[in-house]
Amino acid sequence: MSDTKPVYYSEYLQLDRLLGAQTLESEKAGQPVHDEHLFIIVHQAYELWFRQILWDVDAVLAVFRAEQVDERSLGHTVSLLHRVVEIQRLLIRHIDVLETMTPLDFLDFREHLTPASGFQSVQFRLIENKLGMLPDSRIPINQASYLARFRDGEREQIEASEDQPSLFALVDRWLARTPFLQFGDWDFWREYKQAVEKMLARERALIQTNEMLTRPHRDALLKRFGGTMETFEALFDRDRYEGMVDAGEHRLSYEALLAALLINLYRDEPILQLPFRFLTTLMDLDEQFTTWRYRHALMAHRMIGAKVGTGGTAGSDYLRETAEKSKVFTDLFALSTFYIPRSDLPDLPPDVARHMSFQFTGGNG
Ligand code: HEM
Repeated sequence: MSDTKPVYYSEYLQLDRLLGAQTLESEKAGQPVHDEHLFIIVHQAYELWFRQILWDVDAVLAVFRAEQVDERSLGHTVSLLHRVVEIQRLLIRHIDVLETMTPLDFLDFREHLTPASGFQSVQFRLIENKLGMLPDSRIPINQASYLARFRDGEREQIEASEDQPSLFALVDRWLARTPFLQFGDWDFWREYKQAVEKMLARERALIQTNEMLTRPHRDALLKRFGGTMETFEALFDRDRYEGMVDAGEHRLSYEALLAALLINLYRDEPILQLPFRFLTTLMDLDEQFTTWRYRHALMAHRMIGAKVGTGGTAGSDYLRETAEKSKVFTDLFALSTFYIPRSDLPDLPPDVARHMSFQFTGGNG
């Protein structure tokens, strides 16, 4: 017989603490406002979900922090990130619930909240930094860093998270080590370049020989086509690309970019399927965060119009700007510029294809 105490529902979940944590500021001020309860509950629900997101993101980071990423863990990291994406969808839906509170109801207690703001959510900032948001992309508030809004202790915790390798940095490192970019005589980059040149020559010929076009129209299209050529030329010139990274126009290292392209273009090869799903989930995650930011900015506009935020920013204008500037995996999105149709994709030599497939070679005869 075990001598451990039987688990009891409310004790296990510490419901006395959880359900005793809704203190209305309006009540303290002597005029309780019904909807402040909803406001607190929604924020608390967010913080609980942020905790879960950090729990899962930390597990993903641990896999990628290893000197040699254990490829067997990749499936699990995809599941974890997929879970985060589902949580994000739920968080966006929370806004619908909060919007059942009208702006006038909000005004009944808003003055009691100053200078507190979601801006000071430590967990939200940790998530941003762990994913790889760059300090430079933050919008200063009154020429001060976002860190100035936090209490001692919390500030140091957030600052420390800026210095740790982010998911972006670790994924970059992992991609840069991808095998298959060069396999025996097969050189992915050389083959890809030739395929692009063929594709572009065909596209230019289509414009030049299209009899339906007037001369000025054709010239305009050819000029635009020159822009596409430029983009590809910049891709094929490592120094130029790295210059663009220095200038902040790209973020992925050159090797990582090549690997991400290979994975996306040859994703039908069994060995690349999981890395492809991993990269896709990273984009889903980034997209959901941006969607939440826009949705939150819309809600703020609806609730407070053009007023400044309780945290001291320009309010919904500030929020819209952060939605644009806070994306992390932008380079993965931009990659589709360089996709070529499957019909143009160079065939893999049989030995490379064999290495990229899963073959059962055992058995009893
Ligand atoms: C009535 C509802 C809400 C309004 C009017 C509102 C408004 C604002 C405003 C104006 C800001 C800019 C900072 C400031 O000056 O205060 C802000 C920031 C923020 N709010 Fe809300 N908010 C609301 C609900 C929520 C909820 C439920 C959450 C969930 C945790 C949240 C999380 C955040 C976060 C994380 C930021 C920082 C965003 C960034 O800097 O990119 N807000 N909010």
